[in-house]
Amino acid sequence: MTRKAILVARHIFPEVRERLAQHFDVEANQEPVDWPRDELIRRMQGKAGALVSSTEPLDAGLVAACPTLRALCSMAVGYNNIDVAACTASGIVVTNAPDVLTETTADFGFGLMMATARRIAEGERFLRSGRWQRWAYDMLVGADVHGATLGILGMGRIGQAIARRGALGFGMPVIYHNRSRLAPELEAPLAARWVSKVDLLRQADHLVIVVPYSSASHHAIGAPELALMKPSATLTNIARGGVVDDAALAQALAERRIAAAGLDVFEGEPQVHPALLDLPNVVLTPHIASATAATRLRMARLAADNLIAVLGGKPPLTPVHA
Ligand code: DGY
Repeated sequence: MTRKAILVARHIFPEVRERLAQHFDVEANQEPVDWPRDELIRRMQGKAGALVSSTEPLDAGLVAACPTLRALCSMAVGYNNIDVAACTASGIVVTNAPDVLTETTADFGFGLMMATARRIAEGERFLRSGRWQRWAYDMLVGADVHGATLGILGMGRIGQAIARRGALGFGMPVIYHNRSRLAPELEAPLAARWVSKVDLLRQADHLVIVVPYSSASHHAIGAPELALMKPSATLTNIARGGVVDDAALAQALAERRIAAAGLDVFEGEPQVHPALLDLPNVVLTPHIASATAATRLRMARLAADNLIAVLGGKPPLTPVHA
């Protein structure tokens, strides 16, 4: 039987490439570079499937240009870069990588929120620049995390994992806003309360954004929403660039209308809004919330397992539906 041809669009773990090579003819991106769109399409043509990530633009145009594709398996949980409706209409199964990164991403989100509230990055820059001369009662004072109200926008798996850290580890009252309310048995152990989005913005001391990106969540946090927040509040975004209006956020931070922000994702990343780069009260990280060696390997392995299942005629392990 002829082996199916697949594309690994990203430079990934050799062991995952080798596993795929046991099943398929593999063409793989061996370099830490993003192929330009035309090259990505050219390389995907004639392939039965592809292992992808959250950054390749897998839109309707690409789908139309690659009629042999039957599976697009992403090693990311977020799939806003994939036109799932176009894939489904063309008979392409789409899979993502949920669960395997939940706790790792929640660790990072909580850590970024703490770094933001307690001005850790700012303190480090201050020390390294040689400006630390003496102890002072008001030097780099921040906001408490323990006991403060934790607000979560988007209460999926990662939101719930962050809520657990806050409620059980730091004694934080948890409020959240989500399209649907959690089942009572999930809310109860965390004493988590569903509130309207307006109440979430008004009441949170530390707001963490974990809502997936879609046209419905585009600029879910913009100037009007930021205006509702407490001047002492922090905002942490580990969801996707585009959920927050970065220009409006930079302005609110510059005018101290909120205290600080922690951002792991950006509109148009890897570009970062220039105004954010100049502000002291924002902690900036390069989309690394899921970046531990063990978790990244789990993500890539799950994508490979999905590809092997789907192209082998079995049901996908973690399908995404339009
Ligand atoms: C994800 O899995 O969606 C992470 O943001 C990495 O892209």
